[in-house]
Amino acid sequence: MDDGFSRESLKKYAEASRAEFEKILGDLVGIPSVSGQPERKADVRRSAEYAVGLLESFGAKAKLYETGGHPLVYGRFDRSPDLPTVTVYNHLDVQPASKKKEPWKTEPFELVKEGTRYFGRGTTDDKGPAVTALFGARYASLNGAGANIHFLWELEEEIGSPHFETTIRQHAGDFKTDSIVVSDTVWVSRSRPAQPAGLRGLQGFFFDLETGATDQHSGTAGGAARNPLTEMCQLISECVDGKTGRVKIPGFYADVLPPTKKELADLSSSGFTVSGFKKDHMYKRLRVEDPLEVMKRIWMMPTFEVHGILGGYQEGRTVKTIIPPNATAIVSCRLVPNMSPKKIVKLVRDFVKSKNPDVKVSVEHALPAYSGKTTGPYADAIRGAMKFAFGREPVFVREGGSIGAVLSMERVLKTPIFFLGLSLPEHGYHAPNENYDWDQAAGGMAAFAKYFAEVGAMKS
Ligand code: BES
Ligand code: MN
Ligand code: MN
Repeated sequence: MDDGFSRESLKKYAEASRAEFEKILGDLVGIPSVSGQPERKADVRRSAEYAVGLLESFGAKAKLYETGGHPLVYGRFDRSPDLPTVTVYNHLDVQPASKKKEPWKTEPFELVKEGTRYFGRGTTDDKGPAVTALFGARYASLNGAGANIHFLWELEEEIGSPHFETTIRQHAGDFKTDSIVVSDTVWVSRSRPAQPAGLRGLQGFFFDLETGATDQHSGTAGGAARNPLTEMCQLISECVDGKTGRVKIPGFYADVLPPTKKELADLSSSGFTVSGFKKDHMYKRLRVEDPLEVMKRIWMMPTFEVHGILGGYQEGRTVKTIIPPNATAIVSCRLVPNMSPKKIVKLVRDFVKSKNPDVKVSVEHALPAYSGKTTGPYADAIRGAMKFAFGREPVFVREGGSIGAVLSMERVLKTPIFFLGLSLPEHGYHAPNENYDWDQAAGGMAAFAKYFAEVGAMKS
């Protein structure tokens, strides 16, 4: 019997929707909604307005919420207040991209199709998955899935969701829901869908050091003058062992919980390979080569990472013999469950002060780690929908990245949160030549449609 939710009919629906899907993804990628660049503010807004129109054209009721920063978009496919409501979270803001400065083969803010692949900034993080879920929802609601389906689309995810929590708190009644599904995570590989049991958190820092007023000639002052870049390098190497990555700040690992037997078994059967990881991320060598050790490091351990150092002569390969007056290091720590961002801030501040009292530490991006559920009817329904759409049960992993909105939704909406991600490692999150592909989109539409039908059929 075909209740509409057969593999065959969903395959047909996806094929029939392909041109429309590509047009919409193209429109969205064409709007450079870079939340982190103030000069893109109008573009971010334009993409929110486009999203409202898009939801409406699909038959949803949609609304734009002001947040004090970039807006938030909410769309609802409502059937009946007696039916369960499922909310899908995605973000439509993206990371910066520049063809001049990075090795993009195509224009980053133009959707370029190459076979089944779609290139462009935001194709996989997270516009492609957002549009995929929307197509799944349209199918589900046209075919009588017994659920109200809502969409919550953020435009500040890539800057740490600074206004998300206050906004959903202010309008908590509007966002009321029975469960949430987040589609902003990565599989282990194309043949291994993932069901993440958690996310790492993030604590960002700036280290600023000023030791002079202007550049000075290193021949006249050098030897006696303090060099802020040299001091910054020393400080960083006191914080972390550059080769091993081991954080040297006392107490940094104190709250890290060891993986359970079950988690270790899940990792072993996850299908992760070091050679695949290296290929996907274009690395020749890693700090460690043992697969279990690599997985623990990317998913379950905290890190201390230097993203950039500002200061001194940066214009090219010329030995400009100056002593710079200041230096800034941009640093962040990935956190794991049970670690407190506040505690890490205190540890880092005190440590830096003890090593170099002239360095000023300021903080941003405080996101705790997230531990999710992988059992119960919703988690089972996600696994079933993935298996249905992609022919394979997802493996349990954790994700190494962070999504600020997840904790906020849990705190404010007090509903269970699950993940139905569609991105692949080789899609290149945040990288040049970011891409998404039709197989993930078509399968994703089927997975979402099936999931909505399953949630609608659940006995509450
Ligand atoms: N989609 C990612 C989060 C993610 C990354 C999930 C890797 C699974 C694996 C999200 O868009 C992201 O990039 N988050 C940022 C947040 C930060 C800028 C506050 C991150 O993790 O760096
Ligand atoms: Mn994302
Ligand atoms: Mn991202």
